Amino acid sequence: MDRLDPAAGPAREASGARPSPDASGAGLSPGGGACVLEARGLGFAYPEAGEVLRGVDLSLHAGERLVLAGANGSGKTTLLLLLAGLLTPREGTLLCDGQPRGRSRRAVRAWHSRVGLVFQDPDDQLFAPTVFEDVSFGPLNQGCDAALTRQRVDRALAALGIADLAERPPHSLSFGQKKRVSIAGVLAMEPGVLLLDEPTAGLDPEACEDLLETLAALAASGTAVVVATHTMDEAWAWADRIALFGGQRIVACGPPEAIFRDLSLLETLHLREPLLFGVARRLADAGLLPPGHPLPRTQAALFSLLSQGT
Ligand SMILES: Nc1ncnc2c1ncn2[C@@H]1O[C@H](COP(=O)(O)OP(=O)(O)O)[C@@H](O)[C@H]1O
Ligand SMILES: [Mg+2]
Repeated sequence: MDRLDPAAGPAREASGARPSPDASGAGLSPGGGACVLEARGLGFAYPEAGEVLRGVDLSLHAGERLVLAGANGSGKTTLLLLLAGLLTPREGTLLCDGQPRGRSRRAVRAWHSRVGLVFQDPDDQLFAPTVFEDVSFGPLNQGCDAALTRQRVDRALAALGIADLAERPPHSLSFGQKKRVSIAGVLAMEPGVLLLDEPTAGLDPEACEDLLETLAALAASGTAVVVATHTMDEAWAWADRIALFGGQRIVACGPPEAIFRDLSLLETLHLREPLLFGVARRLADAGLLPPGHPLPRTQAALFSLLSQGT
């Protein structure tokens, strides 16, 4: 893990962490995938709120599950909007597949095809009379013909497990169903990078777990998936890598265990260690888990380790 001082001190590396050239993890390829999206020195200010992000470096690789974690108001949504090309950075560079973001209409369209954003509230995204038409909008807009659009829509609805909802009007759906439709709408554009803003907010625990499994399957198929969340339990359960926000920047980026072992950093950022992580850490320290295993990321994994004894 790499860590920056939240008060903007120099970058330093946590002990036992894997090496990396900067706080972004740039150059790393956690899942072995190519770098698909990169931010270098990104800064942004809202006219009403002033500077909210500065010096943000981040790289993302094909097939990776990256969590942007931080307290409310730390800049997660703003960074997603920047990465999606919906806000323009005040400073810094964005690259997709190694190419800097262009300003022409064509370049902007290409960016939106490659980097898809799912908004926190599905009602901000759904507008068509039926689910099928809603999910068709992206591919049609990309210039796909009717047959290819149908193929893309069918695939996206199947990936989200909502093929049966195709003819339903979105407004008649439950919140969880709307959420899946809004993700399918972005997925139908077949982006290489899928950005999701608090995707599990408002879902019950089972729906939450199901959705995270679906997102993990998408990553396994090669899509880079970025989830913004303020829920540390979710970050621990799901992420390959966590970028921790604080003081207008990413203050640490690395594998979940390295991030959450830095308790002083969490305290500085007013964040809590994940419940399961805390319990497992204490059990391991007390010698109650078999040695040599990474700390369990799910309740089932913890129970399995406990049943193996020490
Ligand atoms: N549209 C906006 N206009 C002005 N300020 C905003 C706007 N959106 C967010 N902000 C401010 O930017 C900061 C970061 O917000 P945001 O990116 O929404 O954080 P997070 O998603 O981590 O909760 C906050 O201080 C927030 O008040
Ligand atoms: Mg937000």
